[in-house]
Amino acid sequence: MKKNVIVSYVFLLLFSCTAFAQSVKRNVSVVTENTCLVFSVDSNDELIFRHYGKKITDLADFSKNLFTPTAHQNFPSVYPTYGGRSYILPALKLTHDDGVICSELRFVDIKTNNPEPNVTETVIKLKDKAYDLLVDVHYTAYYKEDVISQYVTVRNMEKGSVNVEQVASSYLPLRAESYYLSHFYGSWSKEMRMKEEELTNGVKSIESLKGVRTTQCESPIFIISLNGKSKESEGEVYGGALAWSGNYKLSFQIGEDKLLSIVSGMNPIAAALKLDNGEEIKTPEMILTYSSEGKNRMSQNFHHWSRRYALAHGYDSRPVILNSWEGVGVKFNEDKICEMIDDAASLGVELFVLDDGWFGNKYPRDATDAGLGDWQVNRKKLPHGIDYLVEHAKKKGMKFGLWIEPEMVNPNSELAEKHPDWVVKTDRYTAYTERSQWLLDLTNPEVQDFIVRTIDNIITEAPELVYIKWDANRYANNVGSSYLPADRQSRFWYDYVKGLYSVYERIREKYPDIMLQACSSGGGRMDFGSLKYHDEFWASDNTNAVDRIFIQYGASMFFPASAIASHVSVAPNQQTGMSLPLKYRFDVAMSCRLGMELQPKEMTEKELEFAKSAIETYKRLRPVIQNGDLYRLISPYDGVDRASLMYVSENKSQGVFFVYNLGYHERNERCMVRMQGLDPDAEYKVYELNIMGRPALKKGDIRLSGRYLMEVGIPLLMNKTHDSCVLELIKINK
Ligand code: GLA
Repeated sequence: MKKNVIVSYVFLLLFSCTAFAQSVKRNVSVVTENTCLVFSVDSNDELIFRHYGKKITDLADFSKNLFTPTAHQNFPSVYPTYGGRSYILPALKLTHDDGVICSELRFVDIKTNNPEPNVTETVIKLKDKAYDLLVDVHYTAYYKEDVISQYVTVRNMEKGSVNVEQVASSYLPLRAESYYLSHFYGSWSKEMRMKEEELTNGVKSIESLKGVRTTQCESPIFIISLNGKSKESEGEVYGGALAWSGNYKLSFQIGEDKLLSIVSGMNPIAAALKLDNGEEIKTPEMILTYSSEGKNRMSQNFHHWSRRYALAHGYDSRPVILNSWEGVGVKFNEDKICEMIDDAASLGVELFVLDDGWFGNKYPRDATDAGLGDWQVNRKKLPHGIDYLVEHAKKKGMKFGLWIEPEMVNPNSELAEKHPDWVVKTDRYTAYTERSQWLLDLTNPEVQDFIVRTIDNIITEAPELVYIKWDANRYANNVGSSYLPADRQSRFWYDYVKGLYSVYERIREKYPDIMLQACSSGGGRMDFGSLKYHDEFWASDNTNAVDRIFIQYGASMFFPASAIASHVSVAPNQQTGMSLPLKYRFDVAMSCRLGMELQPKEMTEKELEFAKSAIETYKRLRPVIQNGDLYRLISPYDGVDRASLMYVSENKSQGVFFVYNLGYHERNERCMVRMQGLDPDAEYKVYELNIMGRPALKKGDIRLSGRYLMEVGIPLLMNKTHDSCVLELIKINK
């Protein structure tokens, strides 16, 4: 090598060392009981992501200079922008008023606050290096639950306006030898299917552009397992859930350095946000948890957190419901509903929900192509109004709830005639209908007021109504708003969801006790953004118990049993045509929030007797099922033709165990599932419940230690394709 070439190499090396060498000025951590996030402010005032995982209390090692000249990507920014030395998919991309398309953020300050002893809020203040653009990254750490949520605010203090083209809620870099992503996909009637796959170099995205019903086909949730497929009770896993009911995008990018970069937030397509001087936007929250003990712990973290912070009336016990939809559809009258209420009451049902079909006079809701928007009682079907039904239910010792789909309008409605400008549409393209309906423009405050007024009117007319099933049955297309100005049309989805949340908030503020169910053609709105305002989800229009095992298994990864409504319906099932034993249907529905969705008149005496006793049993077990800890024992995805789960009370004094066959098991085989979560040193009395026909458990007084139940398991006689068994375990006080 020639001398001058060597010199220039040495010079280059020296130059790059000086140019890129970094030292740590300060470390910052966000801490929960078992986990922590660590960031470092480097000598360039860049905020570098260092760690998210097991808790490290002494941050001294993070201050040692671990940065090498080429290692910038190894320590990525906490909130990467398009600009600087970053080449990964950015969390923030915007165009400044002068047309510059880059941004570089620098650390300014950090603030912490404890709104309550279990919660720490940390705000990291960043500012663009060259422009008056302020970015605050907000973390909320929920100590006991090991949950950390993150959102970002962007404030434009530049003289002119800024166009924000991408603004993620969170960026999470992870480092391992391999990464396995579990995501949740499906379609109407087949929600929450779980798929685990190894991520490879490049980008994998999970996203929705459907606007409404955004969780029916994909879901804004993920599980990442490091160095192998995820397991229930071992291994490092990260769970993430975006609290947003609109379009979203979660990107998983593995780069040349093997780092996994996860960018989660609103979908940037057709969603640029123009910020004038002084304007600010706030992203949705991304909820994260880390578990070094596998998926079950991850789910328990989400469940504990949901009940305490993210679910309306989180710890209250949920009533047993009978919903009219599959039983009578929209074809009913007052007598029929009163009869249904009577029959439900005699089964021990606690709440009757009148579904679709009760409204519309000029355009009566006799089919799904008319009436949406005209939320006045149909006088022909229900001459004495809703309050009469509420009173009737009350006389029978039951409460009453009502279905509504307030974001929608049928072209055949008085509302559409009166307010064509409230429909989401553009002038030059067709306003397509779906399920014969249009979407209302919730960016418009008048529409928001209309919905709040509608709920007000319903409750004023029937003050003892306690439950509302809030449905939303279409996607959006050819989106446009007559309310938003031309240069703000791309704010539509941001403003729509904010408008929806503001409506929920106003209703919640005025009616804090009302129970709300989030339904969107089944599980189309199962996200933590909407859950905050609701008591539960209608997880799917598919009530077939075999399908429900898969749907509920997927939903249980993030959502607690009390939030997952599950109803026993007729055989053959209306969606799938499958005929399952009544016991199997009850055993599956009882593992979540139990309800029924059929016409009790069509049940035989024997079925009614079984249903009555199962409902009574559920009420007794409800505190453990709805508020206990979940342990998933056998996955329906494991290909062993069986699924099993159990719930254990916090003090381990009671457990409820469920097992379901999904295929035939030959006659000499015994089902021996090892339980979990019990007190190993305690003795438990074990009972079989919901027996119909041949019992699965040998008769007699069975007392076994928690250790035996967890290490060995009880042999159960369960061979037939759709055999199932429910056991109750009661700790014996010695
Ligand atoms: C949707 C819901 C159903 C039912 C019907 C009524 O499909 O998911 O549960 O309420 O609407 O039209």
